[in-house]
Amino acid sequence: MVYLDLLRKLDKIVKIPDYHLIGITKDKLYYISNVDETYDLWCSEHNGNNKIKIVSKPLLTSRVRKNRNKLYFSLDVSKGKELAKIFCWEEGKIKEIDMEPIRIFSISYYEDFMVYSGSSQQENVVHLIRKDSENEKIFSTKSWIFIADINKNFVIGSGTLHNNPKSMEIFIYDLNKNEYKVYTPKEGSFNTVSSIHENKLLFASNFEGRKKLYIYDISYNELYEPSFEGKDYLNYNFQDYTSYYFTEDGKVWFIGLQDYRGYAFLDGYKINHPEGTPTFLDVLGNEIFISFSSLKIPYSIFKTKINNGWEKILGSSLDKEIYESLGEVSIIKYKSFDGLEIPSIVYKTNVPNSKNAIIYVHGGPWSHVGDFWTPSIISLVVSGFNVIAPNFRGSTGYGEEFRALDIGDPGGGDLKDIVYARNYVKENKLGEKVAIMGYSYGGFMSYLATVKEPDLWDAAVAGAGVVDWEMMYELADAAFKHFQDILFGGRNDLRKDRSAINFVEKIKVPICIIHPQNDSRTPLKPVLKYIEKLLEQGKTFEAHIIPDMGHIITSIEDVYKILFPAIVFLKKYLG
Ligand code: 4NP
Repeated sequence: MVYLDLLRKLDKIVKIPDYHLIGITKDKLYYISNVDETYDLWCSEHNGNNKIKIVSKPLLTSRVRKNRNKLYFSLDVSKGKELAKIFCWEEGKIKEIDMEPIRIFSISYYEDFMVYSGSSQQENVVHLIRKDSENEKIFSTKSWIFIADINKNFVIGSGTLHNNPKSMEIFIYDLNKNEYKVYTPKEGSFNTVSSIHENKLLFASNFEGRKKLYIYDISYNELYEPSFEGKDYLNYNFQDYTSYYFTEDGKVWFIGLQDYRGYAFLDGYKINHPEGTPTFLDVLGNEIFISFSSLKIPYSIFKTKINNGWEKILGSSLDKEIYESLGEVSIIKYKSFDGLEIPSIVYKTNVPNSKNAIIYVHGGPWSHVGDFWTPSIISLVVSGFNVIAPNFRGSTGYGEEFRALDIGDPGGGDLKDIVYARNYVKENKLGEKVAIMGYSYGGFMSYLATVKEPDLWDAAVAGAGVVDWEMMYELADAAFKHFQDILFGGRNDLRKDRSAINFVEKIKVPICIIHPQNDSRTPLKPVLKYIEKLLEQGKTFEAHIIPDMGHIITSIEDVYKILFPAIVFLKKYLG
């Protein structure tokens, strides 16, 4: 086998610089990029010139406000376990916030107020620091809570505050009265809030059926749909909204998903961008800055105006050899066991003499694959595999009903959807041999697929996967205990049945295990037990523990250490 050739191509893919927009101030552009081989926070002028690295490997950053070159970021202080501290950066000066390190979910600020939400072993919390005062815990709960925004009167966020696995409510904390309330337009509906403008909240909700955008005016206790000047958006039938924010002058921008692509709008007008998926945008006067990528365009930052062409500010293009290895991409739907249609990406390879396929299972489980830059899929295609990546039940992007289909049944119906993806590969002659591969929830599916349906695969790759939900629950902090409670939706009896560790004897195919040493979401410990059982039972496996790494990928080296062993393994067992 020609490892050198594989490594050379992989090297080209993982080293492609990507650029993700954080926001725009009057004179600066803030972004995350891996140009220096780690995912770092940078700042430049609006045209991308005069780049300055602010900090290496932040886990999270706040947004910026137009009139001030200031933001907050968090840094891991636990070698990847995601216990983090927050720092304030303003005009080149960095100040550490006085706090206990915790898992942080979101940070937001308004003038000299800063608020963050996070999770300790015991509880999920919201902390507030007012100008020159102590760090104060203002809310604690067993549920998930994500702070979205703050202004001079309110802190707002969303969470599973009624402890219903299928609903989300809105959290409103009154900074003047020091009181909070939970708001929902209808009990049991799913609501996520993003931003506040003059005491009005912008949120997405399914309370009238399909997910739509709404405004809730806190002062007048009024709920209505935003009205837009532009009517372009009416021609689109979104299955989901991925981002929606107020601009600083109170206009609304949003990104809607239709099939597997995203479309960005400002005040109802469609914004120009290439075919693919915008993920975030920021507006300054009549200039719009967009984070954008597609399956063939790495994450870039574009600048545009309404009714105007676009200009790339920061971005990369694909090397010729890589581009030429990429074949046709199509979006297909296949019927699963119960007739449910499962949308999937089929990405064919152009590498000569390729005859095998990989079922790529995305993580989350509440996320999706789409027309955006995905180095793991690209690496497989360039290595000579056809890839089918299904948006199995539970995926985002197809409405709330579809997303909630895995609640109370993880590793049940969704695993059957993966089995039917494999049937699709066989029926359409996409692969003589078929392997399953995934990271995180995708790794969980690889483990479970190989013990529940041992005859359907030729090999499996499980990255940062789950083998034992019971042990994992014991090891989890408050946030991930709650995550699992929601995912199982009260069906705790299923935890045993959905854990590969209870069925090790069934596995028949070689499995490649890749796991970060310090993963605090999907911990290594149960996987080590699994490996011991594989060893005792004489199963064929290889295991790669990535030292000092956590669940989150923070460097190009992390990407190599996951993808290179996986590809070498797949080449050996699939050819
Ligand atoms: P993800 O990982 O696929 O990266 O979101 C997961 C982490 C934890 C759990 C599930 C998936 N969990 O149930 O705790």
